[in-house]
Amino acid sequence: MALVPKILAFAGSTREGSYNKKLVKIAAQGARTAGAEVTFLDLRDLNLPLFDEDLEAKIVLPEGGKILKNLMRDHHGFLISSPENNSSVSAVLKNAIDWASRPEPGQPPLSCFVGKVAGLVAASPGVLGGLRGLVHLRMILGNISVIVLPQQFALGKAHEAFNEDGSLKDAKARDTVEGIGAAVAKTLAKLVG
Ligand SMILES: Cc1cc2nc3c(=O)[nH]c(=O)nc-3n(C[C@H](O)[C@H](O)[C@H](O)COP(=O)(O)O)c2cc1C
Repeated sequence: MALVPKILAFAGSTREGSYNKKLVKIAAQGARTAGAEVTFLDLRDLNLPLFDEDLEAKIVLPEGGKILKNLMRDHHGFLISSPENNSSVSAVLKNAIDWASRPEPGQPPLSCFVGKVAGLVAASPGVLGGLRGLVHLRMILGNISVIVLPQQFALGKAHEAFNEDGSLKDAKARDTVEGIGAAVAKTLAKLVG
């Protein structure tokens, strides 16, 4: 029997009303429709401290870092919606990547990332939708051996884009975002099936 692809979906924002959390949930829906099992992770729940090598020397990994790394290892791919802060990825997202990238005894290097497949989207109230942040995120993930799919989507004017129930007002945008989720699911089905 073919293995069901497992995808971890998260946003690079801890904000309660985050547009990126809403957007990644839409991508997740596309992945589920395409046959994947998707887990949504709210990075806020991890309470990750800022990465600090002195802290790491004392505790190795904070509790939230352990949860994050276990979840990442337990999934074949990622759906990530990243806000753009000062033209790059958010500090929240980079901090999570940094903690997850640290080696642990008995684990191969970058065990959370190597060979994983990722689909990227972004949302911002600005007109570019966070597109510049995705350029950096793609590079960061590629450098730690994640296979980042070529298709991506940046949602501009995000503050006007969603209905009350979290769905997107624009059907074309919804189809594109769901399509990115589906593309991750279908790529993984070929790789892990
Ligand atoms: C420090 C900071 C820098 C920001 N820089 C940018 C930026 O370069 N480009 C952009 O489109 N939005 C920028 N924004 C606005 C964010 O995109 C906006 O707050 C967005 O809603 C955050 O994502 P969220 O809704 O998922 O929390 C910035 C916001 C902050 C707090």
